[in-house]
Amino acid sequence: MENLVALGLGYALGSIPFGLILTSLSGAGDLRNIGSGNIGATNVLRTGRKGIAAATLLLDLLKALAAVLLVRHFWPGHEALAALGAILGHCFPVWLRFKGGKGVASMMGASLGLAWPIGLAYAVTWLGLLAVLRISSLAGMTAAIVAPIAAWWIGKLDYALVLAGIAVLVLILHRGNIQRLLAGTEPRVGGKG
Ligand code: G3P
Repeated sequence: MENLVALGLGYALGSIPFGLILTSLSGAGDLRNIGSGNIGATNVLRTGRKGIAAATLLLDLLKALAAVLLVRHFWPGHEALAALGAILGHCFPVWLRFKGGKGVASMMGASLGLAWPIGLAYAVTWLGLLAVLRISSLAGMTAAIVAPIAAWWIGKLDYALVLAGIAVLVLILHRGNIQRLLAGTEPRVGGKG
């Protein structure tokens, strides 16, 4: 029962589509019709609204972090399921007919909530690669792979297992980006494309 509550609470929080809501409120229209059509911060940035993109990044991160911390507080031992629920909610929100984001910012929040060294490894990989390469998808996918390795490294095998599953999901959701990366057509953040 507690497993279901953790998963459900994670899903409910994760399914709030902040990128879509903030972009719409800013008057930029429906994010799903802009750029890649993704509802994440990278695509919000393509609207030219940097503040809204930063807010989307932060809120998508915080919703997963909140899910993990809330579940750990009330139902200790079930936080990994809250992390999984939050990512599933973000990627497959019932409100958007199950067509959501790709999970990179939310996985950062979930990693941070599970254990700060995992979050730190994720953040350093993601933001470091983003700063150097300026390719959001590549930076995000690499960070997603690093998270379960970091969890295993600090001896949290249960977290490592759940994060590995989430990483596989993140990679699958980036299949279009992977094709563009292989074709050399993946746009760079802040670049001309
Ligand atoms: O977090 C999503 C990012 O990795 C890719 O976004 O819009 O370039 O597909 P996008």
